[in-house]
Amino acid sequence: MHTHGHSHANADETACTQSAETLDPAHVGHQHLREHHGAEEGRPLLEFEDLCYAYDERPVLRHIDMHIHAGDSVVLMGDNGSGKSTLLKVISGLIFAQKGSYVFDGQTVDEKAMKVSTFAKNLHQRIGFIFQDSDAQLFCASVEDEVAFGPLQMGVSEQEVAQRVDDVCTLVGIEDLRKRAPYNLSGGEKKKVAIACILSMNPDVYCFDEPLNGLDQKTRAWLLGFLHELKAAGKTLIIATHDQSLADEVADYFVFMGSEHGYTDKPHIHINR
Ligand SMILES: Nc1ncnc2c1ncn2[C@@H]1O[C@H](COP(=O)(O)OP(=O)(O)OP(=O)(O)O)[C@@H](O)[C@H]1O
Ligand SMILES: [Mg+2]
Repeated sequence: MHTHGHSHANADETACTQSAETLDPAHVGHQHLREHHGAEEGRPLLEFEDLCYAYDERPVLRHIDMHIHAGDSVVLMGDNGSGKSTLLKVISGLIFAQKGSYVFDGQTVDEKAMKVSTFAKNLHQRIGFIFQDSDAQLFCASVEDEVAFGPLQMGVSEQEVAQRVDDVCTLVGIEDLRKRAPYNLSGGEKKKVAIACILSMNPDVYCFDEPLNGLDQKTRAWLLGFLHELKAAGKTLIIATHDQSLADEVADYFVFMGSEHGYTDKPHIHINR
């Protein structure tokens, strides 16, 4: 019988103090997500080489050369329109560079590769993207359906999905919202649900786009603590933000994105380690 008696729930721990690491499915015997063993020794997990992206004829990402290693916490900074969200979409395999390459864990991510459903599923499982606008991310009838959606898509058994939904809702502190419709939650509640949806996939890489937008002080403090836990659990964090205090708190290094567009001008990014 699977109810709440699983390997890591510790009733007297609050949601905020539970470790993100305890969500590692390997701890509860779900070995299938462990078939990949992360990046080859020493090889960056994400590699960008001369990557360029344009919306129609308007260049946005220009000649990006960058390596991100597993476990890095990277903060993307830059003016409005400098391409932070665009880069996160490329990383998540939602859009594809017209020039240059993006390699994730040794494999090129492009439109052709993403047409192979096993490849696309693996990428979406391993790279979670919490959108700038939660409304763009939430579409199910209830919060618990929303949190279950990703793992069900991945072919995880219903019993195990139910377990994960319990775990994640506790961890994020949204048990009270489980039966609610996502579309009429508050902004901060939606953000928590969106985070729960990604957490239920147990990705290796978390892409956060302006995670603190619209959050109250309490939720903001919770999220900062949570980011630290993800970091401590060895997750790779890629965070786009205008919030200097968030950036200072979590960044191992910064990537500054230039705001002039056009493929021929100065290097688009400046990496500050
Ligand atoms: N779907 C789209 N079609 C056309 N142009 C787009 C599209 N999405 C973004 N852009 C343009 O691409 C540029 C980069 O946008 P992006 O959203 O990546 O910027 P950003 O750095 O995330 O900005 P912000 O700080 O405002 O979130 C902007 O000039 C924007 O207008
Ligand atoms: Mg943006």
